[in-house]
Amino acid sequence: MQVEARRSASNRDMAAAFPRYRQAVLGIRNYWYAAALSREVRDRPYKVRLLGEDIVLQRSGGTLHGLRDRCAHRGIPLSLGSSEYPGTISCRYHGFTYELSSGELVGVLSDRPDSRICGKPNVRVKTYPVEERAGIVWVYVGDEPPPPVEADIPPELLADDALVIARRRSQLGGNWRLAAEAGIDEGHARFLHRTSLWATFRAFPAWTQVRAQRSDDGWLSRVVEHIQWDDDHPRLGKWPKKAAWYRRRGFGAARLVGIRLPGIVRVNFAGWTSYEIYVPVDEDQRLEFLVALKSTRSRSSRLLFRMRYALLIHWFFYGGFHAQDNEMVQMMSIPPEALYGPDRSITVWRKMVQDDVRGVPVPMPSAGGGTSSPETT
Ligand code: FES
Ligand SMILES: [Fe+2]
Repeated sequence: MQVEARRSASNRDMAAAFPRYRQAVLGIRNYWYAAALSREVRDRPYKVRLLGEDIVLQRSGGTLHGLRDRCAHRGIPLSLGSSEYPGTISCRYHGFTYELSSGELVGVLSDRPDSRICGKPNVRVKTYPVEERAGIVWVYVGDEPPPPVEADIPPELLADDALVIARRRSQLGGNWRLAAEAGIDEGHARFLHRTSLWATFRAFPAWTQVRAQRSDDGWLSRVVEHIQWDDDHPRLGKWPKKAAWYRRRGFGAARLVGIRLPGIVRVNFAGWTSYEIYVPVDEDQRLEFLVALKSTRSRSSRLLFRMRYALLIHWFFYGGFHAQDNEMVQMMSIPPEALYGPDRSITVWRKMVQDDVRGVPVPMPSAGGGTSSPETT
């Protein structure tokens, strides 16, 4: 079996690189995370797991609430419960009833009204800050006081002229970091995606020269400095081997690709923008929000974009092109890894997390009483 060398080709000690990033198996705390589409959360419990924490969301009287999904009595998920009185949730087992806004135990429906357990300060359920923006429910998972939710949402999604079309995908395998890295991964697009129907009419280059660029608004972007459309590999021959006549250079290609904390990838196309929001569920699973943005106030442009989304973007970009990325993420097995030149797009992102992250990563999950390797990805 081959084992990855401790040092990279550039003599970098990879075992010691980016320890905070490596430890962020369950995600990065102290950020707002997309948790559900607004239309999915109604007046009954909605269960979601974020960063390894089970959370129940529920609306009551038009207000959205988030609580830890665990009854303080015997640990039954509150998401199995019901809302017997406005503004409350009752656990299914013994009827412990909590106020949604505070998590306070306000009654036990299997005990006397003067039940002595009510009012005990340690018998309550943790609440989570919850907000709604751009048709998405955002939950703050952290230990520090939350910043305004706008701090963690790309501002163009909140603009008055934003037409936002969002969908959610769940039960996706693979750690959130693999998905975020796939989003910013420079080299794969011209090889993996050349078979995608979305890119049928696009010619793909042999290789590109790319520079990483940080901007003041928190984005790390890949800026293309040179495109080599074909080239010769000494032991293989010309690549790409033969360009089909219907493929055009640059047709429908991304103009700019960027990533920002805590794991949002932005792809700028001509006339619209795609956001892929990667949300850690636990070590091996993630949620993904796929968001298409059209910035226009024109009603006809909005209608046209909705049609373009329904006929093309939904099926061929998110359903085909992007699904190829998910397929890879679910099959990836690292470490070890042997990074090559274009993977610099990945290492600069890892470094950004290492240097700029707001919160500290959650502790490593223990496996069988021990501590799993910080290499676990
Ligand atoms: S476990 Fe919830 S009421 Fe008993
Ligand atoms: Fe991709």
